[in-house]
Amino acid sequence: MEKFNSSIMYDRHLWEADVQGSKAYSRGLERAGLLTKAEMDQILHGLDKVAEEWAQGTFKLNPNDEDIHTANERRLKELIGETAGKLHTGRSRNDQVVTDLRLWMRQNCSMLSALLCELIRTMVDRAEAERDVLFPGYTHLQRAQPIRWSHWILSHAVALTRDSERLLEVRKRINVLPLGSGAIAGNPLGVDRELLRAELDFGAITLNSMDATSERDFVAEFLFWASLCMTHLSRMAEDLILYGTKEFSFVQLSDAYSTGSSLMPQKKNPDSLELIRSKAGRVFGRCAGLLMTLKGLPSTYNKDLQEDKEAVFEVSDTMSAVLQVATGVISTLQIHRENMGRALSPDMLATDLAYYLVRKGMPFRQAHEASGKAVFMAETKGVALNQLSLQELQTISPLFSGDVSHVWDYGHSVEQYEALGGTARSSVDWQIGQLRALLRAQQTESPPHASPK
Ligand code: ARG
Repeated sequence: MEKFNSSIMYDRHLWEADVQGSKAYSRGLERAGLLTKAEMDQILHGLDKVAEEWAQGTFKLNPNDEDIHTANERRLKELIGETAGKLHTGRSRNDQVVTDLRLWMRQNCSMLSALLCELIRTMVDRAEAERDVLFPGYTHLQRAQPIRWSHWILSHAVALTRDSERLLEVRKRINVLPLGSGAIAGNPLGVDRELLRAELDFGAITLNSMDATSERDFVAEFLFWASLCMTHLSRMAEDLILYGTKEFSFVQLSDAYSTGSSLMPQKKNPDSLELIRSKAGRVFGRCAGLLMTLKGLPSTYNKDLQEDKEAVFEVSDTMSAVLQVATGVISTLQIHRENMGRALSPDMLATDLAYYLVRKGMPFRQAHEASGKAVFMAETKGVALNQLSLQELQTISPLFSGDVSHVWDYGHSVEQYEALGGTARSSVDWQIGQLRALLRAQQTESPPHASPK
């Protein structure tokens, strides 16, 4: 049962946050007259020593250390004696653990936010450098219309900026102080929670002690953030896996991010991208698992809540690795421009042919039909759409004239999509500018958080 009940093997990650929270709490106790200045100094000193042992890897766990909170207090007592017993006055592990977790996650979110911004920046840089490369855009995985390669990159970067914004939002709700809530009813000894908030640099104070000790919304939100971000990354990974096949041959992963086969010497497998795609499953599982744990729990703290931490640690580690590998993949990826260009075919300009007629005054529905007739004519004659003669086109509509030859130019095609958000160069430049501005704004909104006092 002791083994079953214990969480020390994973919540030891919280050692620094636990010391940080305890130091703030001892200051609160001194201010409330529950510790003398000398006692507080003794505790602060002892806690620094505990932190030093963790930092240096010399902290020795006892078999009876149930969790990080009991372990640190046990060690504090060994170091400074009975005064250590005053530290937990009015505090419960219920408000302690959730304070520690929020402190840890706050810092971790800043780290993940920086990694995510780095990935987005890498994608924007790449889009800017390769603005003029054209390739097929797909819907239903069928060739649809010519687009800029950079437009594809930016489509994924834009999704990731929503994740980046979302993470900052989640972080705001993580950054709320629960300490001073006790086990359930609050703090009866006059501890000033505003002082605790300032000491720990939280943005706000929880409103209700019963809610504060038992809500794990911020954990659920974090896991959902990760799930959605992984959804986006898994889709980008899937595109790149396809584009990297011999059949497409648009891109090639660098050796650093692919592996050979143990059996087939010719193979180079996109393991990095496949793992990114697969980790989405693990992250979703953690999110669903936590929601399942929370559903129907009776009011306030129940030991079920101990299960939150492994989810947070595992998902944080996964996200950190995935974001770094994705950045590496994108920054070292090679593209095969010629293959991308060769994959464009005149039938992908059928929509443009309809727009040609629209510009000559034909209603779009009729133009769509006329262009469809041209596609059919080309197919029955066994020629490419752009091989139909002017005379042949004129049997479909008299509006066709010599300038129809401009339609058969892929560069001309993409340049029509000038409305903001489209694939024309001016719009791609605009997107790049918008994303860069967003990255700058997010950087000022989320400065790396002050390290523990
Ligand atoms: N290890 C526990 C957890 O992670 C700490 C809180 C224990 N509280 C309690 N009432 N048993 O949730």
